Amino acid sequence: MKILGIDTSCDDTAVSLLEIKNGKFNILSNIVSSQVKVHAKYGGVYPFLAKREHQKNLPAVFKRALRGLASQASPDLIAVTAGPGLEPCLWQGINFAKEIAEKHKKPLISVNHIEAHILANFLNLKSKILNLKSIFPAVALVVSGGHTQLILVKKIGQYKLIGETRDDAAGECLDKVARILGLGYPGGPAIAACAAKMVGRRVSDQLPRPMIKQKNYDFSFSGLKTAVLYKVKKGNYDKIEMCHEVQQAVIDVLIHKTIKAAKDFGAKSIILGGGVTANGELRRQFNLNLKSKILNLKFFVPPKKLCTDNAAMIAITAYFHRDKKVKNIKADANLKI
Ligand code: KG4
Ligand code: ZN
Repeated sequence: MKILGIDTSCDDTAVSLLEIKNGKFNILSNIVSSQVKVHAKYGGVYPFLAKREHQKNLPAVFKRALRGLASQASPDLIAVTAGPGLEPCLWQGINFAKEIAEKHKKPLISVNHIEAHILANFLNLKSKILNLKSIFPAVALVVSGGHTQLILVKKIGQYKLIGETRDDAAGECLDKVARILGLGYPGGPAIAACAAKMVGRRVSDQLPRPMIKQKNYDFSFSGLKTAVLYKVKKGNYDKIEMCHEVQQAVIDVLIHKTIKAAKDFGAKSIILGGGVTANGELRRQFNLNLKSKILNLKFFVPPKKLCTDNAAMIAITAYFHRDKKVKNIKADANLKI
């Protein structure tokens, strides 16, 4: 079976063709056209510009995704993100998917972008090896530019949101801090690169770890950005130190709350997903913490390329929902998991 995935939920135009053969997922193509350059001057995503770019780029990205593949590579299912995301952007992908589905007389599957970030972890596994009993229940942490959520995964398709950010998402906080410090967009990778220069220097905690002590699974990152802004305005700061500190504050809170949730809910594994989980320090420190605490938790994190937005994750999600074909898909900017 082959599934064509399409994602236009934010500022990446993504199309992928996924083959499922002998219980294995083969990514035949996974094309992501980034709009980073277009949005860089705004320091964030500008929705109507993003919509225009998707419209412009989709036909070429689609062509590239199928280029070089034999004609028998034509998909059996067309999967597209219905939400959450920027509504004008979501509609671009949905309308394009509908056109292809109609033209080739193939069924459509509607995909939740957050669920897709979680299931991106399984692209490297054999679908048969996904021994559900040894992985679930799991606690998933999805952290991106738009979301910071802790989700209890009872099994694939059964989710319960247990915590989320009350204001800015973790990625949004890094993007805003990068802007304050005059680093580029997206902020996460820029801050990570600057923070790496701290090697060998003395580290001191200068910023708050918001909500880390609270007995819930919610987050708050806007105060962190304000604390940085305050220090920058006062002028007595070192850019490298500040990048290291803000990155470490975000990491401390994410790791603490995720491990707490996993313990409290008796999870067998921790699953990461979303752009911020491409962060090398976050991945390293998660690993270290899990090992040192001898928690006996399985730990899943996708390869970096599959942490950020892509359409292979949309296709694998559709595979797990392949029986739920739909005639009409509507964009839902606030679609819940
Ligand atoms: O999942 P994603 O590609 O798009 C959304 O659904 O939002 O995530 C983008 C976010 C941005 O805020 C970006 O700064 C952050 O992920 N990000 C990172 C890294 N790579 C991307 N944050 C920290 N470290 C990284 N290496
Ligand atoms: Zn995303």
